[in-house]
Amino acid sequence: MSQQQQQHIVVIGAGVIGLSCALHLQSAGYAVTIVARDLPAPFETICLSPRSHINYASPWAGAHNRWVPPTPSGDGAREHAMAVATYARMAALAAAEPAGAATGITFMKGIEYLEAPPAEYLALTPERAVGELGMPAFRLLAPSEFPDERVVWGCEYDTWCVNPMVYCCFLLRRFVWGGGRVVRRELKALAEVYALDLGLSGGEKGRIDAAVNASGVGFGDDDKVFITRGQTCVVANSCAATVTRQNADGSWTFSVPRNFDGGTVIGGTKEPDNWDADPSPQVRESLLRSFTATHPAILGESGELRVLQDIVGRRPTRRGGPRIEGEIIPGGGFVMHAYGLGGRGFELSWGVAQGVLDGVQRHLKAHQAKL
Ligand SMILES: Cc1cc2nc3c(=O)[nH]c(=O)nc-3n(C[C@H](O)[C@H](O)[C@H](O)COP(=O)(O)OP(=O)(O)OC[C@H]3O[C@@H](n4cnc5c(N)ncnc54)[C@H](O)[C@@H]3O)c2cc1C
Ligand SMILES: *[C@@H]1O[C@H](CO)[C@@H](O)[C@H](O)[C@H]1NC(C)=O
Repeated sequence: MSQQQQQHIVVIGAGVIGLSCALHLQSAGYAVTIVARDLPAPFETICLSPRSHINYASPWAGAHNRWVPPTPSGDGAREHAMAVATYARMAALAAAEPAGAATGITFMKGIEYLEAPPAEYLALTPERAVGELGMPAFRLLAPSEFPDERVVWGCEYDTWCVNPMVYCCFLLRRFVWGGGRVVRRELKALAEVYALDLGLSGGEKGRIDAAVNASGVGFGDDDKVFITRGQTCVVANSCAATVTRQNADGSWTFSVPRNFDGGTVIGGTKEPDNWDADPSPQVRESLLRSFTATHPAILGESGELRVLQDIVGRRPTRRGGPRIEGEIIPGGGFVMHAYGLGGRGFELSWGVAQGVLDGVQRHLKAHQAKL
């Protein structure tokens, strides 16, 4: 397709979802512009004014991939397929940059401990986990490997973690290098993108063939969308694996090694509809205490944790799961929605990007057929 015929897609949002969609659309041959209020930047500068970026979820994530087995009735199968697609893409990205530093991706062991495992965990055999579900190197832990007697089920597998802002800056850099354009702008409504002067060559103001709504919790007219507050704490200590413990009372204890001088995230809370932007010192203490009890190796030679940063983030969650579907909005523009990823935005990102590309291609083909 020649330069003049390239179709133009505007992606709203520069979190992990907007960036992955933008890059994937660009690779498929579209001209892509990102319009976003918040853009990736070094975590260290984002932390200078955490409140002004609190509605930008991506910097505050771990972020690891934690395999979630779908239930036998099929709940979670769609999301699991997106996690498998993302795993493959992360492996390809990491392999193309062997030093790793450019991408912020690290492959390592994931370890899980459960106090009250649901049926889909109890049904996980290595054959099903590796063969059917694609969880590499899955192994059930023996009780002698559990940290204490409250844990009754455990496993390990191969997985990846990213340092979120190293990774998102990498995606943005790739996108711009590939010819993508970036506009920093806060929109009041999605339809506003059609009125922006995006400075397209030929001065065709507003010529947009499709838009992608990857705005997280940006425009609040979907009443299924809510936030899930997460408080975590970044420590300088390193950790060789990403460890997750699900307690019988519903609380979570986990570590996500960020690497690349990003320390390790120790978490974490999951609090629906809690808008408190300030970290609680008591919660920090209890998170660090619980994790150290489960995984004392985190203390290392020094025998203590060195705290770098408390984190409060808002996971952009949606009842019924992520929304990845097309819609014609008032005014006639086509938009592919890609929001509501909750606590799994990084882990499902490339699966979402593929769903968005499929939706855009389907729409543009049908639209062209009508002309
Ligand atoms: C404590 C914590 C731990 C987490 N751990 C993990 C993990 O281990 N693994 C994992 O996969 N996920 C994790 N997550 C979840 C993950 O952070 C989110 O799922 C993901 O960041 C969502 O990405 P997004 O691109 O949809 O939204 P966001 O990152 O919020 O991006 C939204 C984008 O839209 C833009 N935008 C919004 N409104 C407007 C507007 N009006 N005008 C213009 N632009 C706008 C924003 O500026 C931003 O660029 C965690 C989250 C938290 C809080
Ligand atoms: C776009 O995404 C937001 C979530 O940020 C959602 O509330 C809204 O309904 C979506 N659609 C439009 C047209 O804004």
